[in-house]
Amino acid sequence: MANIAVVGSGYVGLGTGAVFADLGNRVVGVDVDAAKVARLTAGECPIFEPGLEELLERNLAAGRLAFTTDYARAVPGADFVFICVGTPSGPHGGADMRYVRQAARTVGRHLAAGRQTIIVNKSTVPIGSGDLVGGLLGEEAAPGAEFAIVSNPEFLREGSAVRDMLHPDRVVLGSTDQAAAEAVADLYKPFGAPLVITDLRTAEMIKYASNAFLATKIAFINEVAAICEALGADVRQVAAGMGLDARIGPHFLRAGIGFGGSCFPKDVQALEYMAEEADCHPQLLRAVLEINRDGRRGFVRKLDRLLGGVEGATIAVWGLAFKPDTDDLREAPALDICRDLLARGARVRAYDPAAMGGARALLPDVAFCADPYEAAAGADAVALVTEWNEFKGLDLARVRAGMARPVLVDGRNLYDPRELAALGFTHRGVGVPQGAALPGVPEAVVRQLVGDD
Ligand SMILES: NC(=O)c1ccc[n+]([C@@H]2O[C@H](COP(=O)([O-])OP(=O)(O)OC[C@H]3O[C@@H](n4cnc5c(N)ncnc54)[C@H](O)[C@@H]3O)[C@@H](O)[C@H]2O)c1
Repeated sequence: MANIAVVGSGYVGLGTGAVFADLGNRVVGVDVDAAKVARLTAGECPIFEPGLEELLERNLAAGRLAFTTDYARAVPGADFVFICVGTPSGPHGGADMRYVRQAARTVGRHLAAGRQTIIVNKSTVPIGSGDLVGGLLGEEAAPGAEFAIVSNPEFLREGSAVRDMLHPDRVVLGSTDQAAAEAVADLYKPFGAPLVITDLRTAEMIKYASNAFLATKIAFINEVAAICEALGADVRQVAAGMGLDARIGPHFLRAGIGFGGSCFPKDVQALEYMAEEADCHPQLLRAVLEINRDGRRGFVRKLDRLLGGVEGATIAVWGLAFKPDTDDLREAPALDICRDLLARGARVRAYDPAAMGGARALLPDVAFCADPYEAAAGADAVALVTEWNEFKGLDLARVRAGMARPVLVDGRNLYDPRELAALGFTHRGVGVPQGAALPGVPEAVVRQLVGDD
């Protein structure tokens, strides 16, 4: 069993630390946020992530997991130091590397002399960052403190972080030091996942290319949805019909108002930025970002058209988190949509099962409600933005009865248009003909094929 330090206790750091501790390793999480460390030490999970709190509790209680703000408690005794700090978008679209630089320098100052420590970079970082981190560590490390760098990009999805960490599709390791890469591979052995061992830059690129590809798939189906809407086809069945082709595959073909979150928007932007800096012409990446922005604008335009102008209207926004099963609001479509509606003179009443705490500060002019019924009461339209499970089982007749006007714009194609029409709603989905009876691929198959991303 290994001694592991995990630098950064966010979605990736907490998942990584908790899962490695559960396998029997001794893990110390270090974070600069003292309030977060205090909550974690008290057994409280600072983020909403299914299964994580139990995992943290179990391993804290077993003494295999601890949290600190003090690098001196975490790094000198560690065989592996995982860097899991944030890499948000910088002002020009490139990744802001300040947290990685700080973390690397501080880790460097605490490396123990007379032994080798393996530094594993899990943050999503620009191509070449492995060398940058190595340089910073070299500047700070005491004489005799040896280290090797391994790039190990993370592919977990928020909302299923624990499951994804326990069952990775693959583990990617990049290093110039084969023995170090193999030592990290040993840590991952219990997961039984396919291994890709490569050089640092290629490993870093695999992460960006993967996210950019998935974002492209989403942008593609959203563009097709807009065309379906104009021409009277049903994008859900188009996606199902496409997805049955093994060369295409069913995932990430669910049309909606586009992607958000802490990864896709910033990673596509960062890849575009890196490409431009390298004199390449990333026209596909640019289009993906533009289509994604258009999804949010188009959603508000749809509401505006249906209501004959949103000025003075009350809109109930259901769902604020960038996707279900998370409280993460980073780049959430709902933020742009609420702000756009407010700027056009609408009143916004919002409900989200997990993200309202964080949303209050970001959306001071929105009224927050206790449940979706309260949000819809007296509203001129419901705008479904995040497809939480809770919204699937609602009594829509009750919702309809409480509304001033029965308008529902479904940004995630959560509801059956026929059911809404039967209840008397004026409804619009994304790329779905209004109220049409749909022959062809049965609804259940559509959901099964494209409903699980
Ligand atoms: N969130 C995801 O779904 C996901 C998935 C795959 C990869 N990633 C990548 O992983 C990285 C981390 O993402 P996240 O969502 O966990 O970020 P996060 O913002 O949730 O957490 C980052 C943590 O690092 C801490 N931190 C910052 N500087 C520090 C320092 N110098 N020393 C110690 N701690 C420090 C912050 O206080 C914060 O708690 C990013 O590069 C991201 O792109 C994220």
